[in-house]
Amino acid sequence: MRLAWATDLHLDSVERSDVDRFCSDVLASDVAGLLLGGDISQARDLVHWLEFLDSQLELPIYFVLGNHDYYGSDISAVRCRVAGLASPTLLWLPSTGCLTLTENVVLVGHGGWGDCRIGDTDNFEILTDYLAIRDLSETVERQDLLTGFSVRAPLRQRLASLGDDAAGTLRPHLLEAAQPGKTVLVLTHVPPYRESCWHRGRISDETWLPGFTCRAVGDLLTEVAAEIPESKFTVLCGHSHGTGYVRMQDNLEVYTAEAEYGRVFFRIVELIGREVALRAP
Ligand SMILES: [Fe+2]
Ligand SMILES: [Fe+2]
Repeated sequence: MRLAWATDLHLDSVERSDVDRFCSDVLASDVAGLLLGGDISQARDLVHWLEFLDSQLELPIYFVLGNHDYYGSDISAVRCRVAGLASPTLLWLPSTGCLTLTENVVLVGHGGWGDCRIGDTDNFEILTDYLAIRDLSETVERQDLLTGFSVRAPLRQRLASLGDDAAGTLRPHLLEAAQPGKTVLVLTHVPPYRESCWHRGRISDETWLPGFTCRAVGDLLTEVAAEIPESKFTVLCGHSHGTGYVRMQDNLEVYTAEAEYGRVFFRIVELIGREVALRAP
């Protein structure tokens, strides 16, 4: 089975003709579905773009949300909207749970959240998230904006709880998927480990890591992969916009995908038996 995998499309900053070309390239690549790893657009036109891709591709679109997908709104409102999408081929993974792709491979996913637990968690960069997402902006204080860093406990606690919420939602799906002999494909947005947080060819700096890694999801993956060594876990993430690969355990690997504002592209994920291989289209 072949799937297309795209992440961080940021369709609000892309020419319409490029989106059309993206769709025709996906269709020409003979794939059975599209994995969409979050930062699809922003809250206002998120549903528009999902429905547009759905109408053009007429393929299953397996997706998770990224931080930008909540910009201009609040988290529960956006999640409520995507959970209510009518199309049977728009599959939001936190809501669908574990999906069987082939005899050997099952898919689960959640966007995760930069949960402020890795890197310099006392002095971390203020991301646009903390101003553009209503739930978070109320926890950011004026002093944080002046210095560009946050030392504020309320924001840190909120980010930690969003990470815990992601891991809590993913846990039962992951446990259901992780049967001996199966490969579990995990689609997420935020890199789950420091070692998977690639940016411009290297690991992100200490002050960026808190907003660019989801330790709660990383800890969950580490725990389940160690508990079920007969299962294999391949994680696909984005968010840090850099490309990289890391094998965290014998049965746990993470691919991080490159992205660039204004450019839309995808990779091919090929499922061959229990193996997951990444290829250029
Ligand atoms: Fe992004
Ligand atoms: Fe992101």
